[in-house]
Amino acid sequence: MINAAIVGAKSYTGEELIKILFKHPKVKIISLSGRMQGNSKHICEIYPYLKGQVDILCEDINEEKIAKESDIIFTALPHKVSMEIVAKFLKLGKKVVDLSADFRIKDPEIYEKWYETKHIFPELLKKAVYGLPELYREKIKKTNLVANPGCYPTTIILGCYPILKENIVNKKNIIIDSKSGISGGGREFVKTYQSPNTYAYKIGGIHRHIPEIEQELKCRVTFTPHVIPQERGMLSTIYLNLKKVISVNEIIRIYKKYYEGEPFVRIVESAQTKEIENTNYCNIAINIDKRTNNIIITSVIDNLVKGASGQAVQNMNIMFGFDEKEGLV
Ligand SMILES: NC(=O)c1ccc[n+]([C@@H]2O[C@H](COP(=O)([O-])OP(=O)(O)OC[C@H]3O[C@@H](n4cnc5c(N)ncnc54)[C@H](OP(=O)(O)O)[C@@H]3O)[C@@H](O)[C@H]2O)c1
Repeated sequence: MINAAIVGAKSYTGEELIKILFKHPKVKIISLSGRMQGNSKHICEIYPYLKGQVDILCEDINEEKIAKESDIIFTALPHKVSMEIVAKFLKLGKKVVDLSADFRIKDPEIYEKWYETKHIFPELLKKAVYGLPELYREKIKKTNLVANPGCYPTTIILGCYPILKENIVNKKNIIIDSKSGISGGGREFVKTYQSPNTYAYKIGGIHRHIPEIEQELKCRVTFTPHVIPQERGMLSTIYLNLKKVISVNEIIRIYKKYYEGEPFVRIVESAQTKEIENTNYCNIAINIDKRTNNIIITSVIDNLVKGASGQAVQNMNIMFGFDEKEGLV
């Protein structure tokens, strides 16, 4: 049994972590904290449905106290805020899974350009492992700092990785259209969202997930995110031009080979958010437009689970040598 702390327990992803870890057979939630401004609250006052299940105070963030009590610390905070807090935990010798973007981008200059703030711990960027188990499982086993991937990048990298590795598509002009449920925008966004409404945003290569996608896929992408009127769930549609004529069955065979044995990636006929809601699965569907010789990949996840807290727990399972599926199926 290990002791876990959740820093940022009032956030969407913090709440999701509580829900998952509460049921995890090898984890005890020992500490919940956030921006409480001196007014600690019982977690059931914040999430009444947890009454009788999780009996812990949510307190202000006290790094020394949290580090003393816990074996693993999850930080579910905005970028920039996370950076300083994570650095303190690492200095105190702790293992951390950070859900923010602060340790995902390897090049501090690229981080500064996209996040408009200087990275004050560039040395930690070298130590951080990008927490996509399907690509970096062996490195995750050995690290103290996992940079948990962004939600859009998770759908896109898992959706594209096999076909790009096989080198059968043109790496220029990759077009990606993604749709996200409103929880992807965090609590403040949800308060202002007027339902129902669907729209594209950050059009023209300006969304902050672009450098993360390009770092991992090693190519340029045109990426347009959209908000859709549902609470959770995310779908990316990816268009890639094939270099030669190839059957859809051959591509499906490639994907099945790449993801053979992966507990949370499924190749399906039709990728739909309903089929992955509240789960840690990424469902990927593959189609070809024979007229244009474009391959069209659709990839879905629950943004709060495989796109955030579920993936964070999957990473923790790997860091501690637990069964990767523990607490997630
Ligand atoms: N939402 C998603 O689908 C998703 C997916 C993947 C990754 N992420 C990442 O996960 C992190 C958390 O996202 P979220 O959507 O769960 O957040 P959220 O629901 O928007 O909540 C943000 C939390 O951060 C707290 N906070 C803000 N400034 C703070 C400060 N200076 N010190 C301490 N706490 C502060 C807020 O406290 P108050 O309650 O006091 O305002 C709030 O509880 C972000 O880095 C986000 O990019 C989110």
